[in-house]
Amino acid sequence: MIVSGDGVWVEDSAGRRYLDAMSGGSMALTLGHGREDLIEAARAQAQTLSFVHNERLTNPAQERLAHQLTAVAPDGFTRVHFVTGGSEANETALRLARSYHVERGDPRRWRVLSPAQAYHGPTMATLALTGRAGLQGPLTPFIQQQPHIPPSTWRFDPSGKQALAAFDAALEQVGAETVAAFFCEPVSAAALPGYTPPKLFWEGLAERRERYGFLICLDEVVTGVGRTGSWFAADRLPFRPDIIATAKGLGAGYAAIGAALCHEHVYEAIASGSRRFTLGHTWDGAPLSCAVGIAVIDALRRERLIERVAERGPRLREQLAEALEDVEMVREVRGQGYLLGVEYVDPRDRESFLPVDLGVAGRIDDTALEHELVILSTQPTGDGFAGDQSLFAPPFTATDEELEEMVGRFAAVVHEVAVQVERELAGRKPAPVSARAGGRR
Ligand SMILES: Cc1ncc(COP(=O)(O)O)c(C=O)c1O
Repeated sequence: MIVSGDGVWVEDSAGRRYLDAMSGGSMALTLGHGREDLIEAARAQAQTLSFVHNERLTNPAQERLAHQLTAVAPDGFTRVHFVTGGSEANETALRLARSYHVERGDPRRWRVLSPAQAYHGPTMATLALTGRAGLQGPLTPFIQQQPHIPPSTWRFDPSGKQALAAFDAALEQVGAETVAAFFCEPVSAAALPGYTPPKLFWEGLAERRERYGFLICLDEVVTGVGRTGSWFAADRLPFRPDIIATAKGLGAGYAAIGAALCHEHVYEAIASGSRRFTLGHTWDGAPLSCAVGIAVIDALRRERLIERVAERGPRLREQLAEALEDVEMVREVRGQGYLLGVEYVDPRDRESFLPVDLGVAGRIDDTALEHELVILSTQPTGDGFAGDQSLFAPPFTATDEELEEMVGRFAAVVHEVAVQVERELAGRKPAPVSARAGGRR
């Protein structure tokens, strides 16, 4: 039970203080806890105008934030629709992609291709964008089945060629003329912490967009607004996307706000057509949350925090890798900016997944709490493309000393769990090759 927070520290109901290496636990709290400027921006806006529904009315905070966000978005991204979180931003992106094709007289296009090892939210439409059966659970009858491609990790496809071959096979199978969009994270968060596809894949993707006419939608719910050391991770890709969804860092944990941004050509297809785009939730574009968004962008600029993430990120990754260098269970430390990931393997062959029943991800998180550290790990082995992994995603405001302390505590946690794992693995066989890809869909 966390009762208060201050900077990169949180305190529980028993008075114990923890270092928050996960930006509030879900990567949202990019500017730290207890920020007076954000609190004051929310207070002042609530006093002037807290809420007005944006179906027929707009408000100055929404208009100002729209200008500020599109100004820092990739070139040509001139339009934005505000929502209240990541799943809604992704759903809006899907609706935009579908509307774009329908408006252009191509209603056959509705399919969306995406990587199997993904997480885009828990709503029915976003659950269709992952191939992880474990996430869909008993909801499958409600979920439209969509084609997926494997990730290009060191284990399955380091070059990106197999993912492109799977892409082509999927296009052929469903008919490229039915595909509305490709949907993915530029740098993954929980599903494959810190992973980004190789350049060959990105280039092949852009080439296929040219050839077949689908759109590219990027889920920047985590990466948008600074997390990887630029306003958007799209800034570093070798092509320009068509639609971007963002959320967490826009409200920095002080307001529930997300946004779907689109390139002018997507907007134009609708504006010069039916002019109908009717998705709307009660809190979309509310003055209170938009005022917080404005204050977040001001703070990022004033304190040069995105520059700080860009400069400090590579060193942070190095420090993490050095601190974990002697742990056989750690196979890879990867990521960009302050979105880093650690991948664990069976220490005996440094390749196989760790047995699921060891529950290594859960142990890491529990042991971290004992070390007064907040971290987040995942263990989606059952879905076939990734084993136990941890995220390391501190607030941008952490000082050098605080970052070093986080790395030190995290390394102590991983060392402690690694000793237990080695002891428990003695006498067991590494998972056979077929099981490594087991359950894959
Ligand atoms: C990459 C990504 N997309 C989408 C979402 C869903 O966002 P929300 O929980 O705000 O609906 C998340 C949440 O963790 C996420 O990490």
